[in-house]
Order: sequence, then C-alpha cells, then structure tokens
Amino acid sequence: MSETYDVVIIGGGPGGYNCAIRAGQLGLKTAIIEKRGVLGGTCLNVGCIPSKALLHASELFAAAKNDFAKLGIKAGKVELDLPAMMGQKEEAVEGLTQGVEFLMKKNKVDYIKGFGKIAGPGKVEVDGEDGKTQTLDTKNIVIATGSQPTSLPNIEIDEERVVTNTGAIALKEVPKKLILIGAGVIGLELGSVWSRLGSEVTVVEYLDRILPGADDEIAKEAQRTFKKQGLDFQLGMKVTGVEKMSDKLKLFMEPAKGGDEKVLEADAVIVAVGRVPYTEGLGLEAIGGKTNKRGVIETTDHFKVTDGVWAVGDCIEGPMLAHKAEDDGAAVAELIAGKAGHVDYNLVPSVVYTNPEIAWVGKTEAQLKEAGIEYKKGKFPFMANSRARTNHETVGFVKILADAKTDRILGAHMMGVGVGEMIHEICVAMEFGAASEDVARTCHAHPTMSEAVRQAAMGVEGWTMQM
Ligand code: NAI
Repeated sequence: MSETYDVVIIGGGPGGYNCAIRAGQLGLKTAIIEKRGVLGGTCLNVGCIPSKALLHASELFAAAKNDFAKLGIKAGKVELDLPAMMGQKEEAVEGLTQGVEFLMKKNKVDYIKGFGKIAGPGKVEVDGEDGKTQTLDTKNIVIATGSQPTSLPNIEIDEERVVTNTGAIALKEVPKKLILIGAGVIGLELGSVWSRLGSEVTVVEYLDRILPGADDEIAKEAQRTFKKQGLDFQLGMKVTGVEKMSDKLKLFMEPAKGGDEKVLEADAVIVAVGRVPYTEGLGLEAIGGKTNKRGVIETTDHFKVTDGVWAVGDCIEGPMLAHKAEDDGAAVAELIAGKAGHVDYNLVPSVVYTNPEIAWVGKTEAQLKEAGIEYKKGKFPFMANSRARTNHETVGFVKILADAKTDRILGAHMMGVGVGEMIHEICVAMEFGAASEDVARTCHAHPTMSEAVRQAAMGVEGWTMQM
C-alpha cells in the first residue's frame, strides 16, 4: 500500500523547493514534483541565475574595454568569447540546480520527475518522465507552478530570433540590432547585457516611462543613465506585430495615443511584456479552485485555496519575484506544521540588476500621495559619497521616505552600484518598524557606499552632514 504524504508540492522552483526544505526540516513527509527534468524553476534555469551570470560577465567585459585604462590598467585588446561566456553561465546553473537536488535529499524530500496534476482532494497524479502514471495520496497539496512569459498578438516566439527571456540568455551570436519590447525588469537587464556585448539596442515601451512600479524619480534617473550607456528608448509606443524576413525582422509599432505606424528593423527581438501564472493542466477544478481574470489562483487568507490545498509564488497574488515565492513556500510549510506563517509583501524588496543597480522596498512617493499619507524625505547622491567617488561610481542616489508624524520608514528607493545589497538594511529596519532616525544614528563604516543610506536617513530630519 502506498504511503500518505503530509505534503506534495507541484513545481520545483524557488516557491516549491523552499517549501519542501522547510517541510522536511519540520519533519513532514514531503514529495516535490517537477516536469522540467531539473529543479530550480524559471529562476535557476532561465531567469535570475543565468541572467545574472551574463550581467556580471558583460559588466566585466565592458569595464575591461572602457574603464580599465582610466584606472591605470593596461589589458591589451579585449575580445569577446561568447561561447565561453555562455559556458560559465551554464556551469553556474548546473551547479546550483544540483545543489537544490542535494538539499531535497538532505531534507528527506522525495523528488519525482514528471507532470503533476490535482486529481481530487488529497490526490496528485504524476505523469512520470518514465512514461508511467502514479497517484500520490497526501494530506496537503502545495501548488507552486510559477509563471510563464506572455506575448503580444502578431508576434510568433521562436526562441531563436524572436525570443523571451529563455532565448535571450542563449543567443548564439551578438545581434547587430536588437529590439526589446517592454522597458520592465527583464527588458532592461537583458538589454544591458547585449548592449555591453555590442548590440545596438532599442527599447520599445507602451507607457511613457520605464520601469512601471519603480519610484518616478528613480525611473527618470535610470532612463537618463541607460540612455547615456547607449540604449535608445521609444516610449509611448504600442507594438502591433513582428514580421520575419529571411535575414531581418520588421517590427511594427504605433503611438499608444494613436498616430502613424512606424517600422523598425532588427536582427533579434526580445519580448518582455510581463508574465502570467502557469496553471495549464493543473486540475484546479478537481478541488474547486479558481483563477481570476489575470489567471492568478485565488487564495483566501494565508495561501489557502481550499482545505488541504495551498498555493505559493508567481501563480498567486503579490510580486512575481523568486524571493517572494521562497518566503511564501516556507510560510506554507510552517502553516501546515501548525505554526504561524506570514509574508509581508510590503517588505519584499525589488532589485533590478542593471549597472548601476536599482532597488526599492515599501511605498513609492506616488503611492503615498495617492493614499493621502503625509511623508518627509531624505535624499543623498552617490556623487557626494567618498567611496563612490574613489571608485568612480557616482551615478545615482538613495532616497528614504518616512511618516511625517511618527518618522517610521515607509519606503526606500536607491540607484547606484551595489544597492541590491544595501537595500536589506532598510528591509530589516522596516521589519522592526524603525524610524528614519534609527538608521541615521546607526554607525556605518567609512568609507562605504552604505554611508549614503545613513546620510539619506539623516536628510529626513534635515541634518545630512556630508553635503
Ligand atoms: P514587467 O511587468 O516588469 O515589464 C513589462 C513591460 O512591458 C511594462 O513596462 C509594460 O508597460 C510593457 N508592455 C506591455 N505591453 C506592451 C506593448 N504592447 N508594447 C510595448 N511595451 C509593452 O515584465 P517583465 O520585464 O517581462 O518581467 C516579468 C516578471 O519577471 C516581472 O514580474 C518581474 O518583476 C520579474 N523579473 C524580476 C527580475 C528581478 O527581480 N531582477 C528579473 C527579471 C524578471
């Protein structure tokens, strides 16, 4: 007779595998089902990790080409070896996916390769990689099926010339002309990579700004900076189609507000217009689960779909971010084990891994204004930070927003080299309900980029000292 699991998790991305690890730690009998053949999901296989491997390598390539001489380093002729660059990316991915598999074993989680489907309450059917079907009995089902890229009408993705993030991290040569549809996170990160490797990059965006969701001031500064780096922005333009010619691609667009059609030519097009939850063939109906208009699985309080069925990560509400999914996953394992499990989405940081990086947490100025919350702000530019000046990395600033009456920190917005690491100081502060003065009076090592965070916090009460 087959055993009954405490938890069966469908999907082996950051949401699923972190749920599995935590469930294993808590002594729950756990299985995880993944159809990709490897664990890690979008993040490890075709998202966060490979893109960061290329961002890092292309940054060093650009630095060797453009900046080393200024630092007194003679490097000779700097050349790109794209296959080797792709190779180190694949090595990073492989090492980490194997690492996740090891963590499953370490935490006594059964890893089942195949397509998982809910067959009814407490039942998950798996179409195995080996062609066999089995049904698992379980007290709890956790849906962690993630998301997939969306496209636009009249655009056929082939992952060779017209690509999503998947194809964009594996192009076989540097496209001479590259068009990005969507000036969101994926567009800007991958656009930066290929621009540094030599592509002429045009970013076409429907809105009249880049990075929806980011603070307006940050988005403006980012656009100025990326423009200087060579990215061309076509804002307020709606893409209506891409036509494939034998040697070229033609992209058709028109002003979002109406007007004449324009045509651009390119060698490759990256489509990065957002992602949607992946729930195809999941069998949600078998347990009475529902999705909303955007395909998001509806959950009641704290990740519950129905009794004994939970959902985490990109397929439910909240930001589509790996670290949010990780936290959801761990929280659900704790709830199943009878503990408290909660994730505060207001404190999930966002990081755009461009150079310089962009990072934020909490509310933007626009959100505070809309909510009618009175706030004070402190701002400090990296131009006035001694470490940034020493390193010749002076682009960007730190801005801290605090409640006008209580001084409690409500949000922080940063752009600068390494801010993806620095944002966490504010996450911790906000988690503890800190006032801006708490950060302002915390001793920060000198000379560090992080001092800009302290100076910005001082600025909230108007006593910035180094400017
Ligand atoms: P996104 O939602 O960040 O940006 C999509 C952009 O496409 C928006 O600016 C939108 O206005 C634009 N757009 C939509 N339709 C268009 C049209 N017809 N013509 C021109 N522009 C159009 O989505 P993205 O960049 O695809 O990323 C997907 C998800 O993956 C996001 O939730 C993102 O947060 C996540 N992600 C996070 C990363 C990170 O945390 N560093 C890295 C990569 C992805």
